[in-house]
Amino acid sequence: MSRQQVFTIFGGTGDLTFRKLLPALYNLEMTGTQEFCTQVVVIGRRDYTSEEYRELAREWVEKFARLHYKEETYQKLSQRIIYYHMDFTDEAAYEGLDSFYRDMEAENHIFYFAVAPRFFPVIVNGLKKVAGAENGKVVLEKPFGENLRAAASLNETMEKFFLPGHVYRIDHYLGKEMVRNIQTIRYANPIFSNLWDAEHIECIQISALEEVGVETRGGYYDQSGALKDMMQNHLFQILTIVAMEQPGSLTVEEMHREQMKVLSALRMPEDISANMVLGQYQGYREEKSVRKDSDTETYAAVRLFVDNDRWRGMPFYIRTGKKMEKREMQVAVVFKSPLPGVENNILNIKIQPTEGVYLQFNIKRPGEAEDIIQAKMDFCQSCSIVHQTNTPEAYERLLGACFRGERSWFSQWDQIEASWKYVDDIREKYRRGQLPVYEYEPGSTGPEAASELLSLNGHSWFD
Ligand code: BG6
Repeated sequence: MSRQQVFTIFGGTGDLTFRKLLPALYNLEMTGTQEFCTQVVVIGRRDYTSEEYRELAREWVEKFARLHYKEETYQKLSQRIIYYHMDFTDEAAYEGLDSFYRDMEAENHIFYFAVAPRFFPVIVNGLKKVAGAENGKVVLEKPFGENLRAAASLNETMEKFFLPGHVYRIDHYLGKEMVRNIQTIRYANPIFSNLWDAEHIECIQISALEEVGVETRGGYYDQSGALKDMMQNHLFQILTIVAMEQPGSLTVEEMHREQMKVLSALRMPEDISANMVLGQYQGYREEKSVRKDSDTETYAAVRLFVDNDRWRGMPFYIRTGKKMEKREMQVAVVFKSPLPGVENNILNIKIQPTEGVYLQFNIKRPGEAEDIIQAKMDFCQSCSIVHQTNTPEAYERLLGACFRGERSWFSQWDQIEASWKYVDDIREKYRRGQLPVYEYEPGSTGPEAASELLSLNGHSWFD
């Protein structure tokens, strides 16, 4: 048998594997990228044969893969999937895993840790018994730690065992098409790039609203909350992309350097009560595995500032919430009004569910009237079938990048460290200030106080 590049998933019977990873592998198979890994080893505690697992996986692939299902393609992929029954918390079991890999002449490992971060150290310990594992790559799911301290210790464990350049911290928002598009929209259009600063922009709003609640993840979510689950990672990544200086190139080093400069310039609000609102949807405490007296936030809105020459004094508003009236992820750039009484120009980069760009500008009302009205141009990129066929889904894109060794669109440790530090600090300030976690109705726009956060500053959320 020839030498094998093996992609191993720890947590092979979990939701993430079924909903995201297997469909992503299938899409990569369809587009011909999957050849980078020759075998897929799926590790799980349940007692399946490989045949049984492949049958089970087929249903998920059929349901969740972006590209249409073709039995022939699935067969090509599934023949390379091996189910390996093992309790990954049992260190002794890794000797068996080692001989299993030896038999298949595995080398060039890629390990995907699709499990809670508390299991990362035990897997790393186990992998010490697997020949060549330390030369492999590792892909880590968020959350990366539960706070700055836990994240730092986790990072040390990972970077002690794997080479730092082989650690891929995945943030699936960095794989989303319109997140990738932000830089192009910004730099390739002088009508935006020349105005991209506090002198011309009134405020920037980054929103990630979801209709769903915590669903089956109450246990995890209750320990986490909106700030840690969405803001510290996904939304801070977007913030840095929106606010950074243009990198000289898209290399990991350049991107990273510019993103870090933004994170280092984040200003901590003096008065947290005027800059942050947390909320919890009614009925959250009745969700499965949630504490009955929980004050974990399912909604967070923050007003923050990037203290550098480009952005000094201009607010960035960031909000995220579950059980909202609609699912909507967008970046709205509200330009300054040229004259009193004239509406702001607005550029809205729509990330999901629709992918596109909305532009609002002023024109004269048609006819004899001279008053000003708004032209609203709404470009829907995802409405095109060509787009749907050609645009990889986030996990597909990021897995493909990892197989090829491209690291630009993965989170780097010091970014994670800086964003944890910020989020830990604002949480702590909010807690010490004994500020309320406002209740809000499921299916609403969130707590009223979050609207006041903006209205007190003469702004309103762009919806
Ligand atoms: C995950 C969060 O990282 O992102 C979830 O843990 C959230 O709570 C999800 O629902 C949202 O992802 P997407 O791609 O549906 O916006």
